[in-house]
Amino acid sequence: MDIFRTTAELRRWSRAVRSSAAVGLVPTMGALHAGHASLIRAAAASCGQVAVSIFVNPTQFGPNEDYGRYPRTFDADCALAEAEGASAIFAPTVEELYPAGAATFVEVEGLSNRLDGASRPGHFRGVATVVAKLLIAAEPDRAFFGQKDAAQVSVIRRMVADLRLATEIVVCPIVREADGLALSSRNIYLSPAERTQALALSRAVRQTEALVSVGELRASTLIEVARQILAAESEIRIDYIEVVTWATLEPVEVAEPGTLFAVAAWVGATRLIDNTILG
Ligand code: PAF
Repeated sequence: MDIFRTTAELRRWSRAVRSSAAVGLVPTMGALHAGHASLIRAAAASCGQVAVSIFVNPTQFGPNEDYGRYPRTFDADCALAEAEGASAIFAPTVEELYPAGAATFVEVEGLSNRLDGASRPGHFRGVATVVAKLLIAAEPDRAFFGQKDAAQVSVIRRMVADLRLATEIVVCPIVREADGLALSSRNIYLSPAERTQALALSRAVRQTEALVSVGELRASTLIEVARQILAAESEIRIDYIEVVTWATLEPVEVAEPGTLFAVAAWVGATRLIDNTILG
């Protein structure tokens, strides 16, 4: 498996292999877990060549967020990526992706201020900027993202459509622990007691799905039931509970097939998210 440090190397590789195989890209910030593994497997199943980017992107972290302590497990990440079928790793330095004097950012207006963007100002500007840089450098046929970051998916889809990029965005299902907790690189921050309380997020998601399956479609009711589930846990502070159109992230009053139900909450000092696309 090749390891590239510069965008020029990544682009050269992509252009060389493209004549004989579709190129897949799995953008990550490392600390790979089974959720990332499922993205790499999906990429390898549909693309003959797969690059995994590993880059903890400073521009998507707020000043008081966990950029400095975000888990960095490069060797284990490379081993996992290779075992799941990756052909290349792209692991640039910050200076490579943000050269001195860098002044160009990608802002997806409107969408970037909703859901996670409302409580993490500048977050989606950082995400859109780095994903644009990765797509421009790798020129992949397909790029793979997890549904767990559902608002991020909306921002990226909009950005790719607006910039007329040729990459197809593929969204893969949320991967959960056996007890329902959605996999996240940040789960390692949770104490055992917090981890137990964190299960309230997936309980809220499941309860919403159950209500919708018996015909309860009013967003206000779905939100209130989820609020009660989360509020019952002493360590949980709700960030948002939203019922929105997935493409626009705008609130709806009545859920319909394809509506996104999403929650974000602080469990102790750790912010977690979860969601479901309602059937
Ligand atoms: O989802 C993530 O891990 C990051 O937001 C991404 C898409 C790799 C951009 O840094």
